Amino acid sequence: MSIKTFDEISEYIISQYEFPPLAFVNTFGCQQNVNDSEKIKGELSMLGFGMAPCAEEADFILFNTCAVREHAEQRVFGNIGALKKLKEQNPKLIIGLCGCMVQQQHIVDKIKQSYPYVDIVFGVNAIHLLPELIYQKLSGTKKILLDPVENMDIFEEVQTKRDSSFKAWLPIMYGCDNFCSFCIVPYVRGRERSRKPEAILKEFKQLVADGYKDITLLGQNVNSYGKGLNEEIDFSDLLQMLASEDGDFRIRFMTSHPKDATHKMIDTIAKNNKISNHIHLPVQSGSNRILSLMNRVYSIEQYKGLIEYAKEKISNVTFSSDIIIGFPGETEKDFQKTLSLVKQIGYMQLFTFIFSKRSGTKAAEMRDDTPRKIKTDRLNFLVKEQEIIAEQALQQFIGTVERVLVEEYIDDKKLYTGRLDNNLTIEFPGENIIVGNFLTVTVTGARKAMLKGVIK
Ligand code: SAM
Ligand code: SF4
Ligand code: F3S
Repeated sequence: MSIKTFDEISEYIISQYEFPPLAFVNTFGCQQNVNDSEKIKGELSMLGFGMAPCAEEADFILFNTCAVREHAEQRVFGNIGALKKLKEQNPKLIIGLCGCMVQQQHIVDKIKQSYPYVDIVFGVNAIHLLPELIYQKLSGTKKILLDPVENMDIFEEVQTKRDSSFKAWLPIMYGCDNFCSFCIVPYVRGRERSRKPEAILKEFKQLVADGYKDITLLGQNVNSYGKGLNEEIDFSDLLQMLASEDGDFRIRFMTSHPKDATHKMIDTIAKNNKISNHIHLPVQSGSNRILSLMNRVYSIEQYKGLIEYAKEKISNVTFSSDIIIGFPGETEKDFQKTLSLVKQIGYMQLFTFIFSKRSGTKAAEMRDDTPRKIKTDRLNFLVKEQEIIAEQALQQFIGTVERVLVEEYIDDKKLYTGRLDNNLTIEFPGENIIVGNFLTVTVTGARKAMLKGVIK
């Protein structure tokens, strides 16, 4: 008999276990992967799996992997290595790997060769095939290993089981066409594909109806949203459409690419108080020479122009950025330019990375003779400078009254933490406050990267 429907697959899987099976999904990488894992958990729940608190208690362990830096890949290999023992103790345990890492043939080959106890491998566009893969593994006698799928269709039907009850990730597009010379993402995530505005609006409305207050639109380059769609729509139009919805929510988005970010987007943020007044605008380097080698397609002058325009138009706007240190050929002079830019902009947050060579990318071919020690010294120096800059920049908010989304209660501090519209975090005392709601808080102080406040 051939089993085909979802219900039949689910019935079969459950029948294979004495107790309802448990799954453990371990996620590496960016918000895109976090959202994919929420879809995977949605599928597993529909199949009848519960969620295990740790790998040791699971019947199915899945690693959703990231390939952006070598360190991320090494961590995954370390983790899979540690599972060998669990598999020996419990031969019925199913081990799966998915995500960006397994979109690379050399990684799949290595898994086949060195980690034969991995049962299921599937690519980033094959999430909807997971039920079938688990079924095949349980029912078949031979090991299932699906090589990365090249399919670029968008599957709208997959259910999402969100990690939070008030913060949600909402993908608006997948893939990337930019080919920054250091970056593996376009190779593992494929070409840019925008979701249809109707599909995004439908999911957005449902999120608002379900009480989600903080909705982040996701894409590797949100500013090129709409390319390839039949309708005439760009990212600013999409932002405006969503911000015009009724309800108590805040929209955030990431990531904006400086080459595509427009004045229209900045104007749209400025006129809608439901759109966060924080822009994550990764600059990567403060040196035009390095930006050109990175294939970023903007100059520092253009970048600063955008920041100036946003500061002029959006009240209380804050910025954050990504910086790569030690890109091949980066000199002390280039680094000083980065440092100087960081001081001029006054970022509230900086995500700093040492260049990691990714095989298959252009930068992997470039001569890289800066010693590791110099790179780590530059990174550490930048991080220290940034701490000082952020702490100073926070002072301007003291005395202001802010809308805050309450995110957590920290028991040992007896304080609540929350997030302002401009993404700054704040802690404040209170009693019986509902996490996941908006409150009005007066900012009374700042320490390191955190504001202090009292409920108004
Ligand atoms: N699409 C986003 C953009 O263009 O800004 C970012 C995507 S990437 C997942 C996040 C950050 O990782 C990048 O902004 C970059 O700073 C960093 N990154 C990407 N490839 C890297 C590499 N090979 N070595 C070090 N950092 C890298
Ligand atoms: Fe990578 Fe550049 Fe695409 Fe961002 S825009 S995902 S850094 S290639
Ligand atoms: Fe990593 Fe893939 Fe995101 S490579 S950073 S998980 S898109």
